[in-house]
Amino acid sequence: MTTPPQTTQPEQEKKLAARTALRWVRNGMLVGLGSGSTAAFFIAALGEFIRRGDLQVQATATSLASETLARQAGIPLVEPRRGLRFDLTVDGADELDAHLRLVKGGGGALLREKVLATASDYLLIVADSSKVVPQLGRFPLPLEVVPFALPWVLDAVAALGGAPVLRLMKNDPTEAARSDQNNFLVDCHFGAVPDPEQLAFRLQVIPGIVEHGLFLGLAQAAIIAHETEVFVHQP
Ligand code: 5RP
Repeated sequence: MTTPPQTTQPEQEKKLAARTALRWVRNGMLVGLGSGSTAAFFIAALGEFIRRGDLQVQATATSLASETLARQAGIPLVEPRRGLRFDLTVDGADELDAHLRLVKGGGGALLREKVLATASDYLLIVADSSKVVPQLGRFPLPLEVVPFALPWVLDAVAALGGAPVLRLMKNDPTEAARSDQNNFLVDCHFGAVPDPEQLAFRLQVIPGIVEHGLFLGLAQAAIIAHETEVFVHQP
């Protein structure tokens, strides 16, 4: 007899948080679709509702991977255009604190994620309980970096007290991982970050850093699943 595949607790929590986010979706909304495994659960659940005729929405995805999932799920997609605003974007996070300050980019999609978060009236974060931290910094901060600028960006991050590591491809560790824009990704270990706003300011003035993974003042609410319960955090 074959044993069915086990779902881990974080996976169950991700699914629960993602499905709960459907309560925020209304007919006619323009929805931003996040990236990563929790956002993927949301995309699948939204697709189910659309295919059943229970919801009618249009969407734009924050990564090529999420765009593919959305197409497979039957979610109608709209291309970026001037004036486009999203009623709601649902996305995951690598870390979040009590002020809904986030670290994102573990999946490498931080640039498009920040573009859609900024073009959204409401950013709703969906996460399993392991993502909540008292202080940001446990998860290395991702940067998207123009390849030409890499050596100087590494120097500049080290001068700020960080330990930068060029992200490599999982299936070929001799090759650098690339973002959807074909840029490099650099994961920066800063340790605890007591002042994320100051770090964000210092990073955004370094030439060659296209975007950093600190999302500050962007999220309106977070759905955190803890075991079988969900908590909505709205500071
Ligand atoms: C991708 C992201 C993801 O939202 C983040 O990595 C969380 O992923 P997961 O839901 O798989 O834990 O920022 O760039």
